[in-house]
Amino acid sequence: MTSENDLRQYAPATQRNRDSIFKILTSILPPKGNILEIASGTGEHAVYFASKLKNYQWIPSEPDEMRKKSIEAWQKFCPSSNCQSPININVLNSSWTKKLKNIELIAIVNINMIHISPWEACLGLVKGAGSLLTSGGILYLYGPYKQGGKHTATSNQLFDEYLCAQNQAWGVRHLEDVIEISQQQGFKFMQTVNMPANNLSVIFEKN
Ligand SMILES: C[S@@+](CC[C@H](N)C(=O)[O-])C[C@H]1O[C@@H](n2cnc3c(N)ncnc32)[C@H](O)[C@@H]1O
Repeated sequence: MTSENDLRQYAPATQRNRDSIFKILTSILPPKGNILEIASGTGEHAVYFASKLKNYQWIPSEPDEMRKKSIEAWQKFCPSSNCQSPININVLNSSWTKKLKNIELIAIVNINMIHISPWEACLGLVKGAGSLLTSGGILYLYGPYKQGGKHTATSNQLFDEYLCAQNQAWGVRHLEDVIEISQQQGFKFMQTVNMPANNLSVIFEKN
């Protein structure tokens, strides 16, 4: 809920997954640099991670105007000098990387987006990440995945059915498909890590 004066939005899952994600990020990130977050949503992750990752500049992004305002509102509420103003990025727009062309990135982080957007958004994300990151750069994805053609939990299957009912282009993705398109864009698949609520961290490194 937001009031006229407080534009912060709340996504309760961020409170539940942020510490597990933080633990993974600290184990895979290069020691310092710029991190681009695609699909920052409410901005709760952005302010939380920026406050704990002081060696990094955190660059949130979001295509939805109200969510972008929410990110700014969270930044006012929890200021961190290393959390930058959100950028309007829609990975369905093939030229989205132009906004970042003068910024050297060490990582791109994307949490809970690729199943709540068309498959083309995943393609656009990975293609853009492949062009922006240099050797050793990290692409970090978080969310539910099918593996070996199957859901890994009943809760994920129900969630998938719910997503498809909202929009036929949405849905839980096959891990193997995401690995394949990432390899095509010059990434090495590093590992998956089991996360709370049957989600996965999926980690790639640019060749
Ligand atoms: C479920 S929310 C997740 C937000 C946040 N990462 C989190 O974990 O709370 C999905 C987000 O993906 C964003 N999104 C959907 N399609 C997108 C696209 N094509 N490009 C960039 N972001 C997109 C939505 O605006 C929304 O903020």
